[in-house]
Amino acid sequence: MTRDEARSRIIFALDVETIAEARHWVSVLTGRVGMFKIGKQLFTAHGPEIVRMVENYGGEVFLDLKYHDIPNTVAMASREAARLGVKLFNLHALGGYEMMAGTVEMLDREFTGMKRPKVLAVTILTSSTEATLREVGIDLPVQEMVVRLAKLAKKAGIDGVVASPLEVPLIREACGNDFLIVTPGVRPASSSTDDQKRVMTPGEAVAAGSDYLVIGRPIAAAPDPLRACETIIDEIMGVQQESVAKRYS
Ligand code: C5P
Repeated sequence: MTRDEARSRIIFALDVETIAEARHWVSVLTGRVGMFKIGKQLFTAHGPEIVRMVENYGGEVFLDLKYHDIPNTVAMASREAARLGVKLFNLHALGGYEMMAGTVEMLDREFTGMKRPKVLAVTILTSSTEATLREVGIDLPVQEMVVRLAKLAKKAGIDGVVASPLEVPLIREACGNDFLIVTPGVRPASSSTDDQKRVMTPGEAVAAGSDYLVIGRPIAAAPDPLRACETIIDEIMGVQQESVAKRYS
């Protein structure tokens, strides 16, 4: 894998409060990472302006708003995300087949003959346990639900899932190579685990079959963020996996 390929797999999580802080990270890291993740906090506070700011620097955006609503509402919100020019966005697979398939159909209609954004499904949030699922009337084990929802998302035409690194092998097995897997919860061996409980190193996650790694604090809180970023890239480049290279090309 080339250095640029490894770099393009890193999605930096813009987990900050203000546009000024976000701009700082985007100006420092554009060209050094593949994408910037904008989540609910930043988007609720600053709206589309924050997406445009990243795009103005030449950066690409993963809009992490995890849509979950009636099919028409999710399709229309997704259309707006696509119009903002984001490269990736996501929805909750628990919204069901019709919601997911309707969104993909809308994007394919709207972007006929053009490159459309890719859509990811969140299966079961990694903060959920078996007890959380039971509270809402789901009696299946978490891993069974994750696989079930990943397969449903694939059937609906969704491009991939967001998943814990530990779920990657199961999802790869169930959904095949033609399905993106994006994983947060990645920690270089030398870095603090913060509040992440089930972690893998970047190299392990890519070797397990992750396509993109969402990384925040291991870069943002490092004494030398650029160096931390390059060290992570070194680690990803060290991974030899034929199927990964093929899937990504
Ligand atoms: O700082 P850190 O690398 O832990 O940031 C990870 C990012 O991925 C955060 O934006 C966090 O909200 C997000 N995320 C996560 N675990 C999930 C889903 C998303 O850490 N299961």
